Amino acid sequence: MGLEEVAGRVKECRKCPLFRNRTQAVPGEGPEDARVLFIGEAPGREEDLSGKPFVGRAGKLLTELLEDAGLKRNRVFITSVIKCRPPDNRLPKRDETNACYPYLKEQIRILKPDIIVLLGNTAIKTVVGLNGITKLHGKVIIKEKENYLPMFHPAAGVRNRKLIPLMKEDMEGLSRHLIKLGAC
Ligand code: URA
Ligand code: SF4
Repeated sequence: MGLEEVAGRVKECRKCPLFRNRTQAVPGEGPEDARVLFIGEAPGREEDLSGKPFVGRAGKLLTELLEDAGLKRNRVFITSVIKCRPPDNRLPKRDETNACYPYLKEQIRILKPDIIVLLGNTAIKTVVGLNGITKLHGKVIIKEKENYLPMFHPAAGVRNRKLIPLMKEDMEGLSRHLIKLGAC
C-alpha cells in the first residue's frame, strides 16, 4: 500500500462515529520521500472544510516555526492521530483513537521517517504511551529504533504566546538534528 491508497481508505472510512459529522476526512499531506513526520491531534474546523492538515491558525504558526528554523513545510509530511474532526474540537475518545491509529501506523511504515515529531499530549500519549509535554518537549526519545521528538502543539502557542520562544528553540533543535543526520 502507498500513501495515496491510505488516503483513499481514510476518505471513505466509517470505522468510528466521527465519520458522521465530517465534511472531509484529513489523511495528511507531504511528499512520499519526506524524512520528517509531524503528528498532531485531530482536524479542526478549517481542516475539516478543506481536507488539508494544519491550515487554520495553529497551522499558520506551525508553518512559521518551520520556516524560521530553515525547514520547508512542503518537504515534511504532516498528519494527525485522528483523521476526522471531533465535534467542537473535543479530545478524541479512546475508541476513536483505537479505530484510527492503524492508518497512522501504515503511514509511518510507508514513510520510514528519520524522526517523528509528536505535537502535543494526544500524539505523545497515543504513539509512545507517555504523558507530560511540559517535561518531554524538545528531547528526542528513542523507542523500538524509532526517533521521536515531542513538541508543544501549535494550538497551545496560539492560546499562549509565551510558549512560542520554547517552540522556536525546539524547532531549531529539530533542524540541527536533521543536519546531523544529513536529512536536510
Ligand atoms: N490540530 C491538529 O492536531 N491537526 C490539524 O490538522 C489541525 C489542528
Ligand atoms: Fe475512520 Fe479515523 Fe475518521 Fe474514525 S476518525 S471515521 S477511524 S478515518
